[in-house]
Amino acid sequence: MAVDVLLGLQWGDEGKGKIVDVLTRKYDIIARFQGGPNAGHTLEFEGKKHVLHTIPSGVFHKGVTNVVGNGVVIDPVIFKGELDKLIEQEPEVLSRLKISRKAHLILPSHRLLDAASEAAKGKKKIGSTLKGIGPTYMDKTGRNGLRVGDIQLENFPELYNTLVTKHMQLLKGYPDFEYNIEELEKAWFAAIDYLRTLDIIDSEPFVHNAIREGRTILAEGAQGTLLDIDFGTYPFVTSSNTTCAGACTGLGVAPNRIKNVYGIFKAYITRVGSGPFPTELFNSTGELIQAQGHEFGATTGRPRRCGWLDLPALKYAIDINGVTELMMMKSDVLSGVGNIQVCTAYRYKGEVIEHLPYKLQDDLIDPIFTEMLGWTEDLTQMTNEDQFPDSFKAYIAFIEKEVGVPITLVSVGPDRAQTILRN
Ligand code: GDP
Ligand code: IMO
Ligand code: MG
Repeated sequence: MAVDVLLGLQWGDEGKGKIVDVLTRKYDIIARFQGGPNAGHTLEFEGKKHVLHTIPSGVFHKGVTNVVGNGVVIDPVIFKGELDKLIEQEPEVLSRLKISRKAHLILPSHRLLDAASEAAKGKKKIGSTLKGIGPTYMDKTGRNGLRVGDIQLENFPELYNTLVTKHMQLLKGYPDFEYNIEELEKAWFAAIDYLRTLDIIDSEPFVHNAIREGRTILAEGAQGTLLDIDFGTYPFVTSSNTTCAGACTGLGVAPNRIKNVYGIFKAYITRVGSGPFPTELFNSTGELIQAQGHEFGATTGRPRRCGWLDLPALKYAIDINGVTELMMMKSDVLSGVGNIQVCTAYRYKGEVIEHLPYKLQDDLIDPIFTEMLGWTEDLTQMTNEDQFPDSFKAYIAFIEKEVGVPITLVSVGPDRAQTILRN
């Protein structure tokens, strides 16, 4: 059986968690392939809201195995906190969870290095979630990292000390940065003891056997394509491959095993943290979208910057990922915001271009918009696309024509039930 991939096409927070939960009944296995607790995936059903950070979003479904893949980075303290909360509501959650031995560990000193580096950058900061993501992936590629499998080795304390000694040397490069690591270490080692009791597996053979046995797998991405370390708006990106290729390296799935690629995007676009954003709105419409869309980060609570849909960026993301189906989120948020602008090209250094230039720079790039009629109808109670106002139908048709990929799902609210499938 093939593997399907679900991922974000913008700067994250597209609504991936909701859709993974919606689609989970079609799958036997949900597997996260990259990122870590920088992610915040929100699920809503039966009047309750859940935010997941490292645990895959299929965890609320009986009989479904949730795998934390080798490409993920785990902070044991956050992981334990997340599980403690989940177990209160879903006592069987542990029986549905497997963790790759090859996933890397976020140490307390990784978090300190993240914070010190961001503070030192001042105005040029990335706007990191301060979860230690960058330093952990640096140690992974620098071949210094600690992996989940290491906690089962007798010399784990020694391995830990060697790495922390390195970090302490690095922290000396930030003389103004104050920290106290002892408290953090206490909680961290307690969480490591807890992690040891969980189902730690060799995840690649698990996935390969599942494929051979005909079980269905959905790979769940975190962040979004424009935050990809290679293809995003570098350096204002995260430190992993958030794109479809990341599902191959983050799970050990061969490229020819991937079938459907579900690309999730908002009917507008948001960004949290620093970095260029050509279609960003600095007016009352932007504020209205932020308020109606409750655009505040699920991990850090920071306000999300809001702007109009950017089609050159969306097309780029579709090509990078080989998207086969698009899923449009938060369409309901645009009700009553007035006419809608869609960016179809950029004016860049005096030229009209339809692709993303090497370096997106807000002062060099001007979006070219097509204006479309807005709508005022409330979409949140609609259950069928026939009920959509004509101007919303025209918006969907315009996007499909421009990008050449069908929009097969439209989300009209945060709840699992507020999901409309299209033919
Ligand atoms: P993720 O990181 O991609 O999983 O997305 P987040 O959970 O960070 O952010 C998406 C937010 O939008 C969450 O608060 C969701 O509950 C909410 N949401 C998802 N889909 C919709 C939708 O169609 N309409 C509205 N109004 N909210 C939605
Ligand atoms: P989900 O999975 C939105 C952003 C941060 C920052 C940059 C680098 O919920 O969509 P990092 O902590 O990774 O070093 O931060 O990436 N960022 C996200 N933005 N959604 C996310 O995840 C994000 N994860 C990281 O705001 O700009
Ligand atoms: Mg999120």
